[in-house]
Amino acid sequence: MSRVCVFDHPLIQHKLSIMRDKNTSVKEFRELVSEVAMLMCYEATRDLVTEPVDVETPCGTAHCNRIAGKKIVIVPILRAGLGMVDGMVNMIPSAKVGHIGLYRDPATLEPVKYYFKMPPDVSERDAIVVDPMLATGGSASAAISFLKDAGVKRIKLMSIIGAPEGIARMQKDHPDVDIYVAAEDDHLNEIGYIVPGLGDAGDRIFGTK
Ligand code: PRP
Ligand code: URA
Repeated sequence: MSRVCVFDHPLIQHKLSIMRDKNTSVKEFRELVSEVAMLMCYEATRDLVTEPVDVETPCGTAHCNRIAGKKIVIVPILRAGLGMVDGMVNMIPSAKVGHIGLYRDPATLEPVKYYFKMPPDVSERDAIVVDPMLATGGSASAAISFLKDAGVKRIKLMSIIGAPEGIARMQKDHPDVDIYVAAEDDHLNEIGYIVPGLGDAGDRIFGTK
């Protein structure tokens, strides 16, 4: 069974409270998505392996640790996942970025794939899939299946808000994928939106409504 990590850090919770506010502007919402992603990335990469390295400082030798050449690919689910990419690459500048285009069919809520572009060595990389909303879990589950089909073996999912339904779906479909969220909300409404949630993340990031 995968691990579900809910971030209770005050900075994340404070920023999330502003994101949820329906009166928050597109500009501020977009900035907050990026900032929350950056803070979550810090914790979600806690298990990166390091190796010892000696560094000459102006005053002597320091015994330090550096990340042991781990290759990472950040995989936003389009569109809304794009909002989390800047924050992540600020923290992991050497990461590559692969894109998966999916949208939810409004009638069936089933994900429809329209784009898939990964770095050529994706199967050798650890993937962090990012999407602000984990609602029914259909999009995240499908995206992760596509990555597994491409040979990726180690995958994490980072979402800002998760619904219990989406978390359960992910744990059933992908018990090997740990899930990181800033909040687990109450339920989905009749059109598959997270309650209380924050509305449509893509529309709020890109100002399309
Ligand atoms: C949203 C969101 C997720 C998906 C979550 O995207 O960004 O990708 O819905 O829902 P699910 O867990 O029920 O699959 P949407 O389909 O609205 O597309 P967009 O990012 O282009 O706005
Ligand atoms: N997608 C969103 O953007 N918001 C939700 O609440 C559910 C799916």
